[in-house]
Amino acid sequence: MKLNINDQTHEVNAPEHVPLLWVLREYLHLTGTKYGCGIAQCGACTVHIDGVAQRSCILPVAQAVGKKITTIEGIPENHPVKQAWIDVQVPQCGYCQPGQIMQAIHLLKENANPDIEAIKAGMSGNLCRCGTYPRIIKAMTKLAKEGT
Ligand code: FES
Ligand code: FES
Repeated sequence: MKLNINDQTHEVNAPEHVPLLWVLREYLHLTGTKYGCGIAQCGACTVHIDGVAQRSCILPVAQAVGKKITTIEGIPENHPVKQAWIDVQVPQCGYCQPGQIMQAIHLLKENANPDIEAIKAGMSGNLCRCGTYPRIIKAMTKLAKEGT
């Protein structure tokens, strides 16, 4: 099957039911997207499918065929959200952060000026064992003020 990932076409020979996360990491070595729980409970595996944040650990790869898949590798280094994460020094161990950033980009696309409650609600499915939540809120508040 053919997959469009980060504006490149990849031919992948994988069973249709295999989760997209496994295809990204094991077949294509795009390891920026992380495995946390495998049951859509942590957000570490978040990617965009046609611009919408989705958990790749539970998405059968066949359902991503014909769609535009974007992973953390497809987000430019100078993207305002990545820059805000650097400016605020959000990450600690970093493991959850690709998923946090993909979720944040989606949230800010839906609502460019979220208040703290909207940020908390929109990011609530993305867990961080290091407890970087206050810095995530700070970075997103900064983006909301500056406009993205
Ligand atoms: S690994 Fe997909 S939500 Fe946790
Ligand atoms: S920065 Fe360590 S899990 Fe989030």
